[in-house]
Amino acid sequence: MNEMSTSDSERRPIEVVKAINGLEKVVLREIQGSSVEIYLYGAHVTSWKNEQGEELLFLSSKAIFKPPKPIRGGIPICFPQFSNLGSLEAHGFARNRLWGFDDDPPPFPVDAANKVFTDLILRPTKEDFKIWPHSFEYRLRIALGPGANLMMTSRIRNTNTDGKPFTFTFAYHTYFSVSDISEVRVEGLETLDYLDNCKKRERFTEQGDSITFEESEVDKIYLSTPTKIAVMDHEKKRTFVIRKEGLPDAVVWNPWEKKSKAMVDFGDEEYKHMLCVEAATVEKPITLKPGEEWRGRQQLSIVSKKLDS
Ligand code: BG6
Repeated sequence: MNEMSTSDSERRPIEVVKAINGLEKVVLREIQGSSVEIYLYGAHVTSWKNEQGEELLFLSSKAIFKPPKPIRGGIPICFPQFSNLGSLEAHGFARNRLWGFDDDPPPFPVDAANKVFTDLILRPTKEDFKIWPHSFEYRLRIALGPGANLMMTSRIRNTNTDGKPFTFTFAYHTYFSVSDISEVRVEGLETLDYLDNCKKRERFTEQGDSITFEESEVDKIYLSTPTKIAVMDHEKKRTFVIRKEGLPDAVVWNPWEKKSKAMVDFGDEEYKHMLCVEAATVEKPITLKPGEEWRGRQQLSIVSKKLDS
C-alpha cells in the first residue's frame, strides 16, 4: 500500500488508528467536516465534532483508557444491565469488552445514504457466559450524516440454543459537553414521573418548568419520555437534540461537587462542564426469546443559534 501524506489520510472517511495505550480507534469523517471517534474497547464514542471542529462530547481529562476500567465520558453503552439494577457490575459489561468489526451485517431498514458509518459487533466470550449465561449478538451501527447528525442503532439478538429467553436493561450514556452547567436547561422532561437515584429510587413527579442544575447531584430516571429531548446551553448558544426510538426512559445525571471528588477518573471541577442525558430502557426491561431481536436507536444533532433568554 502506498504511503499517504497526512493531508490524504485526513480526508479518508473511515480510518482505524492506534490510539491511547495502543487501543484501536475508528475515525469517521463526514464530507462537510464533522467527525466521530469510536474506541473498539466498549464500542465507545469518545469524540463527536461539528463541522467547525468543535468538540460536542465531554471526555474527562482523567479518563483511564485501560481495561477493565470503562472510559469516563463520551458515550458508554450500558448493557445488559443499567446501573446496579441486577447482579452484574455497574452498567453491565458491554462498555468494557473489546468489540469487533461486523463485516457482513444483516440489512438495515435505515437509510445509509449520505452517511459515513461503521458496524461493530459484540458476542459473549466463555468468561462472559459465566456471569451472564446467555448467547447474544449485539450489532451496533454508528453513522455520521450531514449537519454532524450522529446516529447510533443497536440491534440485540437472542442466540441462545437452550430455548431460554433473556432480559436486559440498556442505556446510551451520553456525556454532553456544556459551557457551564448552571446555564443549561433540559426540555422535554417537565411534568414527567421519575425515579430518584439519590433517594433510593423513590418515584416523584417533575414540576412544570424545564430542568436546570443548581446545587447538588442530579441522578434521575425519567419514565415514559417523549422521543425528542433538548439540552440547551445558553452560554454557548447551542442546543443538543436527542431523538430516540425503542428507549422510553431518559436518565439525567450530573455528579456535582462531592461525587466528582470521589471519582478517581473525573476532575474535581469537571462536573461544571458536562451533563449526561441517557436514552434508556430501565423501568421496563426487555425480554427476548431465542431468535428475537430488539432495536434501540438514538440520533444526536446540534442546533447552533441565538436562543431566546
Ligand atoms: C448514571 C447513573 O447513569 O451513571 C449514576 O444514573 C452513576 O447513578 C453514573 O453514578 C456513573 O456511573 P459509572 O459506573 O460510570 O461511574
